[in-house]
Amino acid sequence: MKYNNPKVEEVYNQLEKDILELGSTQLGSKYLGKNGLIKNLLQTISQQQPEDRKEYGREINELKKYFEERVLQLKDKVTSDTLSSRIDPSAPFDINTPISKRPKVGTTQGTSHPLMQEMEKVLKIFQNMGFEIVESKQLDDDYHMFESLNIPKGHPARDIWDTFWTHDNLIPPAHTSTMQNRAMKTRKPPIRVVVPGRCYRNEATDASHEHTFYQIEGVYVDKNISMGDMLGTIKTYLESFFETELDIKVQPAYFPFVEPGCEFMISCPFCKKTGCNVCGYNGWMEIMGCGMIHPNVLTEAGIDPKEYSGFAWGFGLDRLVMLKHSIGDLRRFHSGDLNFLKQF
Ligand code: DAH
Repeated sequence: MKYNNPKVEEVYNQLEKDILELGSTQLGSKYLGKNGLIKNLLQTISQQQPEDRKEYGREINELKKYFEERVLQLKDKVTSDTLSSRIDPSAPFDINTPISKRPKVGTTQGTSHPLMQEMEKVLKIFQNMGFEIVESKQLDDDYHMFESLNIPKGHPARDIWDTFWTHDNLIPPAHTSTMQNRAMKTRKPPIRVVVPGRCYRNEATDASHEHTFYQIEGVYVDKNISMGDMLGTIKTYLESFFETELDIKVQPAYFPFVEPGCEFMISCPFCKKTGCNVCGYNGWMEIMGCGMIHPNVLTEAGIDPKEYSGFAWGFGLDRLVMLKHSIGDLRRFHSGDLNFLKQF
């Protein structure tokens, strides 16, 4: 017998049984919620004989403390069980560690990968244009991958982003648009954010398709933002990246999170529209998806679409780097072939 008072002892015995069966939330409401077993005990203190109250109250409080400790242990156990099932023990770091916090490349650890070299250049360009950098996650959820982007359950556009799911319903993201909602929800306009991130798709690979690649998303929200702002911003970036002047055009495209949605085209930076094998002899290249952020997406992120507007884009870094360096096959980036890598 742990407690002298039989009522306290009864609740204690019940708790020992429940701990084995109930989760922390259920325990919380059963014991401390409205009509909770410990809560009810506390309320009976005043009904005791004055000389018994002190000891009775002390026992209940002791039980309450014991209960809280046990629930805390339970929570710790759940978190560490869930985490350990998600950890890849062969990875040199937690996969959600931001790139900036990962071990630095040094003489003992080889050299920077060509994609990372270009990623740094791209991010520098955007930083110089006043953008803030926010990294995407390597595991995300349905809400950020679809729902928050105006793609509810059952929407046919979900098929466009065919990707992988873990057993516990998490998603290695198929695009960096997953971060749009977070970027907007946690800031007040003017918002200028670029989001680099690794993306995964359930693709049959070929020279221009990989199942794993990098995207860079952009989000710009303020008052009176127009398509003109979008065209100018993306053009400025691409001219800086290819280090040459470019002609641009857009054509309509469908993405549920923008309205209107476009495909952004540039004149071929190599042949200046005279035709070459890089642009397939048509002088133009399609570089990225973009558009004016859909009012539903703004609203979902807590931004009033009557007051603010904005644009967003998303492009694949690997394809841009492939173009810039005339690399014939995208799969070389992940091949681990030192002869290829040593050229950069
Ligand atoms: N997330 C799209 C994709 O991966 C690309 C994209 C299109 C991003 C339009 C955007 C956008 O932000 O506005 O296919």
